[in-house]
Amino acid sequence: MGGEDKDDMKGVKGKVTMDMASIDIVEKLHSKKGIFMLKRRKLFEFMGAAALMYSGAGHSKELSTKPFRHYPFDPVTAENFQQKLFIPGTSGPFGVLDVTGPLKIRATAASFSILPGRESPFLLYQTEQAGKSYQNPILRIESGARFTASLDNELLEPTIIHWHGLHTPAAMDGHPASTIAPGARFDYDFKVRNRGGTYWYHTHAHGLTARQAYQGLASFFLVDDEDQCSLAKAMDLRLGETDLPLVIQDKQFDAQGKLLYQPNAQESMMGWLGDIVLANLTPNAVQTVTQRTYRLRILNGSNSRIYRLAFVKGNTPLSFTVIGTDGGLIERPEKVVGAFVAPGERLDVLFDAGQGQPGTDILLKSLAFDAMENEGPASSMPGMPDMGQSTSRLAMGAEFNILKLSVIAGVRLVAKLPTRLSQVKPIRLEGATPRNIKLSLKNMNFLINGRTFSMDEIAFDVKQGAVEIWSISNPKVGMPHPMHLHGFSFQVIERLNSPPQVSALARFGKGRTVSDLGWKDTVLVWPGETVRIAIDFAHDFPGSQTYLFHCHNLEHEDAGMMINFRVQA
Ligand code: C2O
Ligand code: CU
Ligand code: CU
Repeated sequence: MGGEDKDDMKGVKGKVTMDMASIDIVEKLHSKKGIFMLKRRKLFEFMGAAALMYSGAGHSKELSTKPFRHYPFDPVTAENFQQKLFIPGTSGPFGVLDVTGPLKIRATAASFSILPGRESPFLLYQTEQAGKSYQNPILRIESGARFTASLDNELLEPTIIHWHGLHTPAAMDGHPASTIAPGARFDYDFKVRNRGGTYWYHTHAHGLTARQAYQGLASFFLVDDEDQCSLAKAMDLRLGETDLPLVIQDKQFDAQGKLLYQPNAQESMMGWLGDIVLANLTPNAVQTVTQRTYRLRILNGSNSRIYRLAFVKGNTPLSFTVIGTDGGLIERPEKVVGAFVAPGERLDVLFDAGQGQPGTDILLKSLAFDAMENEGPASSMPGMPDMGQSTSRLAMGAEFNILKLSVIAGVRLVAKLPTRLSQVKPIRLEGATPRNIKLSLKNMNFLINGRTFSMDEIAFDVKQGAVEIWSISNPKVGMPHPMHLHGFSFQVIERLNSPPQVSALARFGKGRTVSDLGWKDTVLVWPGETVRIAIDFAHDFPGSQTYLFHCHNLEHEDAGMMINFRVQA
C-alpha cells in the first residue's frame, strides 16, 4: 500500500507537502553517508474524485446549497468511496515504529493534502529512529519494556502528551498540569506495565485538548505480549497488511481545505461534529480485501461523535467478531452484528471478508441511532440565548459510511478462531468501596459530582490498593458521555436503566454490551443510565498519585467536565 518513489519535491523541514492529483508525503531521510535525500510516500491516491470535483459535472450548483461543503466527500453516498485507504507503513505518516530506544518527539506543524488540490495544515508528532522519519508514528512496544521519550514543543502554543490507557506514574501521565510552553521540553520515562492492547496517545494541553487533537496530535500506542503474539500467529495477522489500525474521525474543512474548528455556543456545549468522515485520514476510503479474515483495530479518535458500527452488504448487516476492547484482548471471541464506539474507545475486531463474493462491496457504516440529545435544555428552555445550530451537515446519529471494503479474487481462507484469546481476571468485589459519580448539567455546563475542573482541586481520595465500585449515573436530560479514567483500567460490571438501543445489544449479562467486556478505560454512559465499574487502585509508584477522570467528548473535557482524584499512599 502506498508505493514509495524518489523524487525531487522540496520538503521543508518538518513540513509535509503534496501535489494535486495524488497526495504525497515528503519525508526527509538522512542517509548513512550524511546526504539528505527526499523520499516520497503516497498517502492517498484519488481515483477520479478530483476530476469529479473540478469537472463541475452537475455539482457546481449543488455545492452552495447541498448539505456537504465538499460534495464528493459526502459520506452518506457510498459511490463517493473511491480513495484508497491509507495503510500505515514502516515510516512516514503513521508509520509503525518499533520502539528500541529513547525517542525524541517534536510537536510541530505540517500539512497533509486530504482533499484534492488543497493543503490542510495539521499539527503532528514528528520523530526519527534508525534513519527513518515518522509523523504521528504508531508506537509499538513489548509489554514490560521501558519507554523513554522527550517531547519538544515546537508549536506556538502550550502542549503535552498523554498516554491514553497506560498505567504510568502520575508524573508521566501527561496531566494538563504538566503542559509545557512553546520551546520547552518534557521528558517521559516509564515502564510499560499494561498488557498487550491497542492504546493511543494524544495531546492533553490544558484547555486546548479538543482543538489540538482535532488538528492532528494523536496516534496509536500498541503494546504486544504473548497473547497478542499467539493470536497473530493463529490468524496470520500482519500489521499493515491483515492487521489494520483504523482511526475514525469526523472533521470539517473550509473551502481552502483548512480544518475548520470554530465551535459556537451550541457546539461547545454539545461537542464539535464534522461532516467529512476520515479513516486513517482518508476521506471516503476504500480498501481491497480478499476472502479472508482481517483484524481492524478501531479507534474512535473523534472529538465528540459516537459511531454505531456495522459491516453491511447490500442491506444486510454481516457478523464480525470482537476480540478486544480498550485494554487488550477479551477472553473469548464474541460474534456480533453491531457495536457502539464512543470517543476514546477502541474496538478490536476480526472481520471475515469472505462473507462477500469477489466483486462485492461491503461497507463499514455507522448506522442510525437516537443521539439522545433532544431532551437537552439548549434549544427548548425559554429565555435561553440563541446558541446557534450545529454547523455540521452530518447530525449525531445520522447513518453514513466510513470505509468501503471491496472484495477481490483470491484464495478463500476460512480461519479457525481460537476459542480462548486471553485471561481477564475479574476484579474481586468483596469489600469494595462504593462511590457515586453523578453527571449533571448546570448553566449549560456538564459537571461531575457538581464540579467543574480546577487544576489544583482534588475531588476525592482513594486508597492505594483499594478496590472501588463507581456508579456513574447520567441524568435523563442531557446527552451521552464517554467517561474516561486515567492511570487505571477498569471493568464494567453492570449497566442499569439503559435506553432500548443499548439494552438491545446487552447480550453479556448485567446489561452489558460487547464494548463493555475486558479491560476498559473509557465507557459510554447514556442519558438515564447508571454504569457500575470496578477499579483496583493497586500500584507500585512511590507516594500519592493524582489522576484525572473526565468526559472524552473533548469539548466537554476542555469545558471542565473533568476532575482530579488522588490515590493516597
Ligand atoms: Cu484520551 Cu484524558 O484522555
Ligand atoms: Cu487517558
Ligand atoms: Cu460529556
